[in-house]
Amino acid sequence: MDKKWLLAPALLIVLVGCTAAPGSTEALPTSTTAPPAAAPAATNTPEPTPAPTPTHAPYVPSSPSLRELAAAHDLLIGAAVSAGPLRGEATYAQALAHEFNVLTIENAMKFGPIHPAPDRYAFANADAIVAFAEEHDMQIHGHTLVWHRQAPEWITEGEWTRKELLEVLHEHIATVVGRYRGRVDAWDVVNEAIDKGRLRETVWEKVIGPDYIDLAFQWAHEADPDALLFYNDYGGEGTNKKADAIYDLVKGMVERGVPIHGVGLQMHLTLGGIPTGIVENVDRLADLGLEVQITELDVRLQKQGKPDKFERQAKDYKAVVEACLQAKRCTAVIMWGFTDRHSWIPSAFEGYGEALIFDELYQPKPAYAAIQETLQK
Ligand code: XIL
Repeated sequence: MDKKWLLAPALLIVLVGCTAAPGSTEALPTSTTAPPAAAPAATNTPEPTPAPTPTHAPYVPSSPSLRELAAAHDLLIGAAVSAGPLRGEATYAQALAHEFNVLTIENAMKFGPIHPAPDRYAFANADAIVAFAEEHDMQIHGHTLVWHRQAPEWITEGEWTRKELLEVLHEHIATVVGRYRGRVDAWDVVNEAIDKGRLRETVWEKVIGPDYIDLAFQWAHEADPDALLFYNDYGGEGTNKKADAIYDLVKGMVERGVPIHGVGLQMHLTLGGIPTGIVENVDRLADLGLEVQITELDVRLQKQGKPDKFERQAKDYKAVVEACLQAKRCTAVIMWGFTDRHSWIPSAFEGYGEALIFDELYQPKPAYAAIQETLQK
């Protein structure tokens, strides 16, 4: 008998015992087609819920895995990871380790989560993900040192002089990058700094001025000279005005000798919304001497979408992986999660969900097969 089937009952127990996705108040359905079970009535003393009768198959590790297939192309294939499910769901950890060779830290390294008070850092979640990646021979993509969102109130509400905020940012970058020196392979140093074709007005831009970007890269480089440093943004994946603004920004940095090594294209897509000119855009960045990574791929679906939505979603995933393989120097395809059980989409875009390549019960969707097929060529 095949070994993996011996594991099946244990996995099943883990799976049905899992808690719902963060932010979700619904009980998880027991199959991909059955309607969600009714939520239990609220009581002051919660009773243990009896385990539902499982009607689905357990996660079965594929052979070859995505990471095995990607290795043949010298490609990194990865997912963003949250510490909660990594600790709490054995299936989440098992699937990650099996399928991917790079992990992005979804939230745990952002300024607010990792540096919640001026004199306090909270490293536990980031440490756990980094240790997991190392244990499973995966690269680590650090995300993100400077961003206008998920910055703590002590930064955004503080009254700063330029000198003070420079000191705070320098100390933050030196501490976070320094802690993971030699362990985090790549950093999204600055995230989403462009808005409407020019520098976004953020606390960093307003108090420090436009040179906060160059300085952040310099400080990250000083803290870990071997880490690859990325500028990461959304909406400039193909050829368009935003892509031009990103291109101009990073071209200037290269010309000024700023230690920037790559550009991250987030790639949060809607169904059928593949940008035109991805290869052309990646190639012009490569011509600047930069590498490009697809850093946050997902393809969100309307909950009320048509029955063929999963097949159409598979086509979009395929198109992105194909473009990355075709372009001059696209070194990674990283998805913003891997299972619909844990995805930012339902809480960020009302009426949307099902954006990833495994469903809520860790069953591969057509998009998984499409990536597999593309990498097999
Ligand atoms: C999202 C996370 O997935 C959510 O859990 C969090 O509540 C908000 O941020 N672009 C980025 C990511 O660069 O950091 C964002 O991640 C998604 C959009």
